[in-house]
Amino acid sequence: MAREFTRVGVVGLGTMGAGIVEVFARNGIDVTAVEISDGALERGRATLTGSTDRAVAKGKLAEAERDALLARVDFRVGLDALHDVDLVIEAVPEHLDLKQRIFAELDRVCKPEAILATNTSSLSVTEISVATTRPNQVIGIHFFNPAPVMKLVEVVRTVVTSADVVADVEALCERLGKVDVTISDRAGFIANALLFGYLNHAVGMFEARYATREDIDAAMKLGCGLPMGPLALMDLIGLDTAYEILDTMYRRGGRDRRHAPAPLLKQMVTAGLLGRKSGRGFYTYERPGSPKVVPDEFTPLVADAALADGARAIAKVGVVGSGTMATGIIEVFAKAGYEIISVTRGAEKSAKVCEAVKTSLNKGVVRGKISESDRDDALGRITWSATLEHLADVDLVVEAVIEELSVKKALFASLDEICKPGVVLATTTSSLPVIDVAMATQRPADVIGLHFFNPAPIMPLVEIVQTIRTSAETSATARAVTARLGKTGVVCGDRSGFIVNALLFPYLNDAVKMLEASYSTADDIDYAMKLGCGYPMGPFELLDVVGLDVSLAIQQELYLELREPGFAPAPLLEHLVTAGYLGRKSGRGFRDHTRR
Ligand SMILES: NC(=O)c1ccc[n+]([C@@H]2O[C@H](COP(=O)([O-])OP(=O)(O)OC[C@H]3O[C@@H](n4cnc5c(N)ncnc54)[C@H](O)[C@@H]3O)[C@@H](O)[C@H]2O)c1
Repeated sequence: MAREFTRVGVVGLGTMGAGIVEVFARNGIDVTAVEISDGALERGRATLTGSTDRAVAKGKLAEAERDALLARVDFRVGLDALHDVDLVIEAVPEHLDLKQRIFAELDRVCKPEAILATNTSSLSVTEISVATTRPNQVIGIHFFNPAPVMKLVEVVRTVVTSADVVADVEALCERLGKVDVTISDRAGFIANALLFGYLNHAVGMFEARYATREDIDAAMKLGCGLPMGPLALMDLIGLDTAYEILDTMYRRGGRDRRHAPAPLLKQMVTAGLLGRKSGRGFYTYERPGSPKVVPDEFTPLVADAALADGARAIAKVGVVGSGTMATGIIEVFAKAGYEIISVTRGAEKSAKVCEAVKTSLNKGVVRGKISESDRDDALGRITWSATLEHLADVDLVVEAVIEELSVKKALFASLDEICKPGVVLATTTSSLPVIDVAMATQRPADVIGLHFFNPAPIMPLVEIVQTIRTSAETSATARAVTARLGKTGVVCGDRSGFIVNALLFPYLNDAVKMLEASYSTADDIDYAMKLGCGYPMGPFELLDVVGLDVSLAIQQELYLELREPGFAPAPLLEHLVTAGYLGRKSGRGFRDHTRR
């Protein structure tokens, strides 16, 4: 017979514990909430009341419900209070010895049939379980932060966890309105194993001053639709907790250097900069525990006027190319009021691009996004040409031709001869070094990367890629133009993958490796990232949309440039590409798209 869970215990009321208490109490389950000291208990209580008060203020919880919820929680100091609970979830700091001590004590205090669960993110549930005399009743119940919001729970069964314990915990998750994925005991389980390499990489980028914290976060939010940027997420997780998770994953997960905590993390933890909970981490918060970011000495002065400082005036723009990106970019510039000269390799291609721009603008009219007269004005601003010489007097050229270095270099050499002095020459390359293109000209200071995302008219992000030769004036011009296009520009250095692809593709590649290792299924991995981390698509859904061949090519570039062993493309990805399984475009990738 399935167990009844009428009273549960939660040990440790920090970032996770307080949220877990709320999840149970919201679902009508009595909770004994335990801390180590009166002070910590009061902080835990304040977190819970703060969160439920916010829910009331937002109209998500009635006052009476909040009162009933709070009345279900019995706040206590010391583990002895847990003698009558049916299940305990431990959420103390991520240290094996501490957790083992607590489990030995819980084993002594709790009734024999009680289930003992850990919320650990990276430690071995098996190692924790052997501190008790009932390892078959020990299980991992890994909630996601913030626990009341995130739908996913990873249920971690060890080799000795009883099947009935797993089944009862799965049923409990359902009662809590959560979606569970049940997996075996491996460092980082699904979500963290895929998340933390990415987070650590983002910290490394920030540490190397590759881009600012705001730009790294904006890039991932706007480029990938993530609910938070990686550095803001680190602050939410807690830098001490993140450090411990990375450290454990590094040691347990095959010493992948990508999990070796970035040195900056250790320094910040030592300095007491723990993220939201201490009021300061990568960002500064209104007060400890507050989600509200306040300006500090690193906050950029974002006034548009300041952006334009030193920027050259741009009125006439040349766009070279006739593919998807060129078409979208022409539309974006035309809508923003620039005069455009589109240069393709022939009248036929120009006619096709023109048709595509018209179709897209017409769709905008149908959807009420642009008026008919604005559409006509935008189209009227575009001149169609097949001759590069027509770019002699433009102020900015945006190149969006085929992704081949020799072609781009030859084009830039020609532009160098044709264009007037002072023109800004931009490439939209997503994987080639901008400096290679810049050095094909006699004016590398005027060359910059403007990496638009597909579809350009919709995606709000542009990566502005500065080479070591790009002048401040060119960069200011690129930022001013991007702002006038209504896009968010993020500035970064000239490294393979810039910000977004460098952070995104290794994560996708890791997901493929996880599938290849048969740790979980494509469906569960997709669920884990969507429901545990709020990603708009799971990694396999995204790979099928992007194209497996494109993904493989990007991953190969990253691997070649950075020589990071962990970036080596997953053999399964290579095999699928060889087999012609390229994703949606070929009808089959990780999933079969022909049967719909
Ligand atoms: N932060 C996250 O995003 C996140 C997400 C999922 C899981 N986890 C995991 O949850 C666990 C807790 O992490 P956190 O971020 O909430 O940590 P935290 O530092 O915010 O909170 C830990 C709490 O445990 C209390 N504590 C310490 N020793 C205790 C004891 N002997 N008895 C009772 N309470 C004690 C502390 O006073 C503190 O309030 C870790 O295992 C972590 O890996 C964290």
